[in-house]
Amino acid sequence: MIDYRTITTSDPLYPQLCDLREAVLLRPLGKDMAWFREHYAHVDDKAEFFAAIIDHPNGPRVVGCVLLIPNYPEEGVGKLVQMAVDPQRQGEGIGRRLVIELESRAFGEIGLREIFCHAQSTAVGFYDRLGWATDPAEFEEAGIPHRRMSIGQPADAKVSKTRA
Ligand SMILES: CC(C)(COP(=O)(O)OP(=O)(O)OC[C@H]1O[C@@H](n2cnc3c(N)ncnc32)[C@H](O)[C@@H]1OP(=O)(O)O)[C@@H](O)C(=O)NCCC(=O)NCCS
Repeated sequence: MIDYRTITTSDPLYPQLCDLREAVLLRPLGKDMAWFREHYAHVDDKAEFFAAIIDHPNGPRVVGCVLLIPNYPEEGVGKLVQMAVDPQRQGEGIGRRLVIELESRAFGEIGLREIFCHAQSTAVGFYDRLGWATDPAEFEEAGIPHRRMSIGQPADAKVSKTRA
């Protein structure tokens, strides 16, 4: 059984969550968590951490994670970052469930109007399956192509709705 819950940086599972991010997201780019903390210090300071945890004979193990930075870069908007599933557990619906947990918290308890992410172009189909919209423009980040993707109501849509 997989347990889906949020953890904090003081949780004993936080180092495992960082190890997973490093293995799945950073090592393939030739980077590590020390590099990430140096360049993106604000992320772990401000984020909420969603974890997928399995029971393992050696103790609980983090097999998936995603982070939400609420009210970033402006009030009412949130950024999804650091989406990663253990390669041995990909394709089982873990990523989908983590994003659903994040959306539920973002649009429910926090009350955000929009969530966005910078999706690696190879992962656009994943967010697309979850109903996220894709910006047409491709851009480079950390040396690889990305697209901005989002779900919810952008600020300009809110304005035009108010005017209508
Ligand atoms: C992308 C990733 C998070 C998906 O997690 P996952 O647990 O394997 O995905 P799920 O099993 O929940 O898949 C949900 C749906 O998305 C689809 N999907 C998953 N990854 C996909 C991809 N890269 N491209 C297109 N579709 C994808 C699945 O086929 C499934 O479709 P369905 O609705 O027909 O069943 C995971 O593969 C991963 O960690 N990849 C490496 C790191 C990465 O790319 N992170 C995202 C950076 S923006």
